[in-house]
Amino acid sequence: MIEADLAVVDAAELVTVAGPAPRLGNDLRDVGIIRHGCLAARQETIVFVGDLRSFRRQVHLLPDAVTLDASDRVVLPGFVDPHTHLPFAGWRADEFVKRLRGATYETIAAQGGGISATVAATREASEDSLVAESLRRLDCMLLHGTTTVEAKSGYGLTLEHEMKQLRAVRRLDQVHPIDLIPTFLGAHIVPPERRADRGAYLRELVEVMIPRIAAEGLARFCDVFVEGGAFDAREGERVLEAAAARNLGLRVHAEQRTACGGAELAARLGAASADHLDHVTDDGVAALAGAGTTAVLLPGASYFLRDAGDAPARRLIDAGVPVALATDFNPGTCPTEALSAILPIASLRLGMDPAETIAAATLNAAHSLGLGDRVGSLEIGKVADLQIAEVPDHRHLCYRFGVNRCRDVVKRGRVVVRDGRLTVPG
Ligand code: NIG
Ligand code: FE
Repeated sequence: MIEADLAVVDAAELVTVAGPAPRLGNDLRDVGIIRHGCLAARQETIVFVGDLRSFRRQVHLLPDAVTLDASDRVVLPGFVDPHTHLPFAGWRADEFVKRLRGATYETIAAQGGGISATVAATREASEDSLVAESLRRLDCMLLHGTTTVEAKSGYGLTLEHEMKQLRAVRRLDQVHPIDLIPTFLGAHIVPPERRADRGAYLRELVEVMIPRIAAEGLARFCDVFVEGGAFDAREGERVLEAAAARNLGLRVHAEQRTACGGAELAARLGAASADHLDHVTDDGVAALAGAGTTAVLLPGASYFLRDAGDAPARRLIDAGVPVALATDFNPGTCPTEALSAILPIASLRLGMDPAETIAAATLNAAHSLGLGDRVGSLEIGKVADLQIAEVPDHRHLCYRFGVNRCRDVVKRGRVVVRDGRLTVPG
């Protein structure tokens, strides 16, 4: 018998997403559903996945084991959100209203709003207040079924304030059930006070900030915003090469508002991910396919900015590019914590099948963070990170949009959300 201290029993659908990461092409919709599915875990590791009959034959529950009844519900892996700008101060609801009245993201930025506004507020904030604010956001994410989150700096834009943001992420990882993966985004924009000499800011990124942040182990990845008004592809390349030399993984904000060669750059450098891609060209798609770089799509941002251009998800999937989904959680372009809210947008705006959105927000998202062998699917040997949703089958997660269906969440084998409430206050 297999001994277990946690069991999830008799799901209408157990969506395992089992199989090798990343999931490509037609296989993206193959999410390995088991009807009357059960799962068992011992400490933080999954030890059994199967149907009710084999569960009864093979699993022995230890005294004090916790059992979650999943009948008439869907069990799926915890969501992995591979692109957030979590630790910031300075919401921008004013810009939201301005855009509704006709202003654009670019005109607002040119008038000192946009990223610069959040940079000013984040510089004013203490590390403690960034931690406190972000804890509430992480609680919200957990309540929506997210169990792993990438978190970028990029609103400090000086060594001191970038390190403050990244130290906040490190503390959050220590105190909150959600696992956090830190990314250095010092190349978000050239901060206003350095615009007279952008070369000097780039040199500081390459010669001072990246070496220091890498030496202190404050980031696992480095990201660059390649876009007009931010950095061009040649500047991005300098930053990313310096990061690669310090063993940081690479991510690129690419082709969000216009095609600037960010996808080709990500592919050429073997980046882990190229993110956004709303305006990616055919050459960009081909380059990503050849490189195995994951396309992290952020349809919540294009939706929120009312951008007519959508990432060509179907072309990317057909070309064999690994496709993942993320929130882009930030105060300017996608202020939602809920990756579960992005799945319906990905279906309706990108034409992704509900099953594809699940694989993209779990296994492929984990793969883009280098975690595809640990989380993102429900398989023996993987970490028991899962959620139980109050829907009769997985399609309802996209179909009946706008409501949080997540009732229970297990993180590393521990029940952290029960009946829609946190069991451990964050
Ligand atoms: O991913 N594109 C650049 N960065 C963010 C937006 C940041 C902001 O507007 O504060 C994004 O959309
Ligand atoms: Fe972003």
